[in-house]
Amino acid sequence: MVQLTLPKNSRVTEGKTWPKPSAGNVTPFKVYRWNPDDGQNPRVDTFYVDRDDCGPMVLDGLNWIKSKVDSTLAYRRSCREGICGSCAMNIDGVNTLACTKGMDDCASGGTVKIYPLPHMPVIKDLVPDLTQFYAQHASIEPWLKTDTRAPGAEWKQSREDREKLDGLYECILCACCSTSCPSYWWNGDRYLGPAALLQAYRWLIDSRDERTGERLDDLEDPFKLYRCHTIMNCANACPKGLNPAKAIAEIKSMMVQRKF
Ligand code: SF4
Ligand code: SF4
Ligand code: FES
Repeated sequence: MVQLTLPKNSRVTEGKTWPKPSAGNVTPFKVYRWNPDDGQNPRVDTFYVDRDDCGPMVLDGLNWIKSKVDSTLAYRRSCREGICGSCAMNIDGVNTLACTKGMDDCASGGTVKIYPLPHMPVIKDLVPDLTQFYAQHASIEPWLKTDTRAPGAEWKQSREDREKLDGLYECILCACCSTSCPSYWWNGDRYLGPAALLQAYRWLIDSRDERTGERLDDLEDPFKLYRCHTIMNCANACPKGLNPAKAIAEIKSMMVQRKF
């Protein structure tokens, strides 16, 4: 289990304890709060979630708090099925998706502890600023680049070539990996990070793409690619079971091979 540090603006104080419902089946939630508009330090509020009145996932608990206790609580969510990647946060010291993490799977003595994704600027409460993360993804030009004219209909691949994309195309850009990577924490402005590099590899090995050399040239940089030190936090954190560290190693191998 990867234990992580707090977000950047984090002189955290004990916050408000909200009323406990009289229901018998209650789970405490300790939730990071910060509002840039109120001039206060970040704090950790304590809520008590009525488990008989909501679903079993951490996101169900947050939705219950927002609708029944404090409507100002800010967090992202959309699909509640582990598909959109928007509910990524640090739960119990681990980056993961709130919609696929069960409250009963939280280890900290029955209390669910929730912080924003680590080492990112916080916009409000559990909402990190992912502007740079998305810009880095865009920088690897995540689309098919060819000179050959596309066929009028489907552009087919062999079964073997298609299988090379398995373990890559499933990425939901949740940022759990990049925000658990120490190299990304310290050099996030110049190191692309595991999520963007996993996607870079996805296009490098696509049999239809015709700009492999150009893509490798763009990554041939002491910071963009080579800040990965194979610490493996990224693979441990990925809620989709992907392995960005392996993809990064494959890119480094392609860099070496093209020199011979
Ligand atoms: S393997 Fe590389 S990308 Fe993954 S956490 Fe470690 S340094 Fe970061
Ligand atoms: S590789 Fe995994 S952890 Fe990283 S952004 Fe994609 S889905 Fe999220
Ligand atoms: S709400 Fe979409 S992944 Fe959790």
